[in-house]
Amino acid sequence: MSVENPQRIDTRKLDEIISQYDSKKSNLIAILQKVQEVYKYLPEDAMIYIGTKIEGLSPATVYGVATFYAQFSLEPKGKYEIKVCDGTACHVRGSMPVLNAIKARLSLTDGQMTTNDGMFSLETVSCLGACGLAPVVVINGKVYPQMTSDAIRIVLDTLLKEGR
Ligand code: FES
Repeated sequence: MSVENPQRIDTRKLDEIISQYDSKKSNLIAILQKVQEVYKYLPEDAMIYIGTKIEGLSPATVYGVATFYAQFSLEPKGKYEIKVCDGTACHVRGSMPVLNAIKARLSLTDGQMTTNDGMFSLETVSCLGACGLAPVVVINGKVYPQMTSDAIRIVLDTLLKEGR
């Protein structure tokens, strides 16, 4: 991580969040959750800033915490946030072919979770509590039940048309 120039982030906003949580290192997770709410992910510069502002922390510590917890995203989210459930029921009923169909349709290469144009981000999640509808995909909070590779391609084509 570079330690220069936290210019892309709004440091006043970060100061506000840090002070809401009494600038305490024990509140780091809550602070990161709030920052993620604002930016939809944890920008590297924000982690560096927090790590240098709060006593007892370092940018490396903040980065370590952010990467440890699955709830934190270090990559920007897309306009459409796609969550593919890979809990047991969904996995057994074919969530992986659905996931692969999404990656292929959006040209996401291995390890890439957000499309180059920022339209879509993709992640797998554990059981969403809707196993009767497996396999389940959620896009911006909307549940798409009993997905197949063909069905998800149609959904994505519709969003691609709407979103441009
Ligand atoms: S396993 Fe996917 S909703 Fe439960």
